[in-house]
Amino acid sequence: MVRRTSQIFSPWVIQDIHAKSDLGRYRIRGFSSFQDVTHFDDLTFLSTGLTRFPLEGYKEQCNTQTVIGSLNAKNPLILDTPIYITGMSYGALSVNAKTALGKAASLVGTASCTGDGGMLPSERKASNKLIYQVLPSRYGFNPHHLKKAQAIEIVVGQGAKPGTGGMLMGIKVLDNISEMRDLPKGIDQRSPARHPDWLGPDDLAMKIEQLREATNWTVPIHVKLGACRVSDDVKLAAKAGADAIVVDSMLAGTGASSEILLDHSGIPTVPAIVLAREALREIGLNGKVHLIASGGIRSGADAAKALALGADAVAIGLSALIALNCNREIPGSNFMKEMGVPAGECSHCHTGKCPVGIATQDENLTKRLDPDEGAERVANFLNAMTMEMSLLTRSLGKGDVHSLEPEDLAALTIEASAMAQVPLVGTNKIFGQS
Ligand SMILES: Cc1cc2nc3c(=O)[nH]c(=O)nc-3n(C[C@H](O)[C@H](O)[C@H](O)COP(=O)(O)O)c2cc1C
Ligand code: SF4
Repeated sequence: MVRRTSQIFSPWVIQDIHAKSDLGRYRIRGFSSFQDVTHFDDLTFLSTGLTRFPLEGYKEQCNTQTVIGSLNAKNPLILDTPIYITGMSYGALSVNAKTALGKAASLVGTASCTGDGGMLPSERKASNKLIYQVLPSRYGFNPHHLKKAQAIEIVVGQGAKPGTGGMLMGIKVLDNISEMRDLPKGIDQRSPARHPDWLGPDDLAMKIEQLREATNWTVPIHVKLGACRVSDDVKLAAKAGADAIVVDSMLAGTGASSEILLDHSGIPTVPAIVLAREALREIGLNGKVHLIASGGIRSGADAAKALALGADAVAIGLSALIALNCNREIPGSNFMKEMGVPAGECSHCHTGKCPVGIATQDENLTKRLDPDEGAERVANFLNAMTMEMSLLTRSLGKGDVHSLEPEDLAALTIEASAMAQVPLVGTNKIFGQS
């Protein structure tokens, strides 16, 4: 007997149909897409040989300082590294996780971002550069907090759930969250899919104007988009007056989303950056309106490739959580017993039962994460990523991560060549160009 399984009705598809027929609804989970799509691993850097001179690591510096939002803001964000911590809500994450992320950002001179559900006082205290999200839900939104932020981010969409709103399962809506969000305890919360006070890009322009006035033109206004119809969306956001645009791809992480949106909507990070760069170029705003990429950025190599393709900075979510010990057995945890899967296979942030105290509101579980130790781990990881970026940049003979360009890259697959618009290795052909 030869054991074979159907490619169409694979064991996973069979299990999925069984689960839906048991549940009677679509499936919800956290973490990120399970689709196998073109990613940064499909690109490689063409470091120096005889045609270019590498820089000496021990005596030649590589600049990583990054400025975001200098088009209109009196005080743009000035970061020591082009990597910052993305918006993840207090609600999806525990107070200790949010505090640790804010502290880590301050330790390395970068920013962190609030997320849905408002500005958590301990994160505000810990993070020297805090980006405040303005979301369709307005849960926990306080206009006075606009003045306490170093940048504002208007969320139009998220890569993990484009075209829909946030989701927070009732098990996480405990006392603090229910009070901060003004929601009944224990009830599943779904945020609106769109801002209640605007219907389109003209209203976005007005919203940006209002936020500028409210913050006295001091801080940058970002617009975050789920990467789908990137070219048009980026042009509309830039023309509406955004100082920076975040393109968040289909590979982006989440605390909870419907599985169908995670796996079947949006486009990957590589083409999202290229389309956004070209859109800004077409309207003459490339380099003026800053481009931030997010979705599946795991290392300094990913971040460096994102910059080479045209991003000015990257934002990380899941990899910062993994640095905090997500998916790792720690003293007191037992993934098999608590989550039903081994560490390394957990994607159950929506359950509120996170065994490492990150994606939970349970008082006892939260204690498993020490914010100071966590901050140190995330800061170490951010420093390691930044060093990796510098190493790659110097190997290309460059002294500034912002000098990385598409010409530094080649593609390992035809698909990556077409999506990244760089030549396939061993050829001088860029696929997809006429
Ligand atoms: C636990 C968790 C909570 C999140 N909460 C929010 C949120 O409140 N608002 C938002 O715009 N995005 C939220 N996101 C998405 C992130 O801001 C970001 O788009 C995504 O994490 C980037 O992809 P990465 O995780 O692969 O780095 C969340 C992501 C995670 C993992
Ligand atoms: S370990 Fe916690 S943060 Fe990581 S995937 Fe599981 S529930 Fe989410």
